Amino acid sequence: MAETENAFRLVISRGEIEKRISELAEEISRDLAGEEPVVIGVLTGAAFFLTDLVRRLTIPCRIDFIKASSYGSGTVSSGEVRFSKDLDLDIRGAKVLLVEDIVDTGLTVKKTLDFLSGKSPSTVRVCALIDKMERRREDIEIDYSGFAVETGFLVGYGLDWDEKYRNLPDIHAVEMRTGGGA
Ligand code: PRP
Repeated sequence: MAETENAFRLVISRGEIEKRISELAEEISRDLAGEEPVVIGVLTGAAFFLTDLVRRLTIPCRIDFIKASSYGSGTVSSGEVRFSKDLDLDIRGAKVLLVEDIVDTGLTVKKTLDFLSGKSPSTVRVCALIDKMERRREDIEIDYSGFAVETGFLVGYGLDWDEKYRNLPDIHAVEMRTGGGA
């Protein structure tokens, strides 16, 4: 009977992540100089990136989170985006920076932007650590993009597989291997 074993291939190291976040923070701080943006993270995955990013910003900001999920326990987006936690802050008239760990199909960002626009912010910019084009379904404009990754199911640094592996410090691609077992 065939056995399946998962192998992890390193895609982005913690050092590369750290360096790129510093660059993004510098760019954002420069673009939003004199402003006090509301930085909004999409739970759960983006919490890791957001906390590292805001610690490197040189401008004041407020922080809030929204909870959206689309994947359930599988590796393919269900196509449905569910919001189970709303913002606590009032963002009317505010400059918003929406922070995502990954934009894949683009559905989550699209639905989140629609949701936020109902709260009348003055502007919303999107910052995503990973821009993965392979399965893009929505035409999303990403203002600040960390890394472009073509393919693969990624885990680590906030990215999960069935809620596991978020705590890995580096980002890996999961490679399914089928071998001949007993
Ligand atoms: C992941 C990720 C993004 C979304 C991107 O969230 O954090 O929010 O998928 O995929 P998309 O562009 O195809 O919509 P998930 O729904 O797995 O929830 P999580 O953040 O709790 O892991």
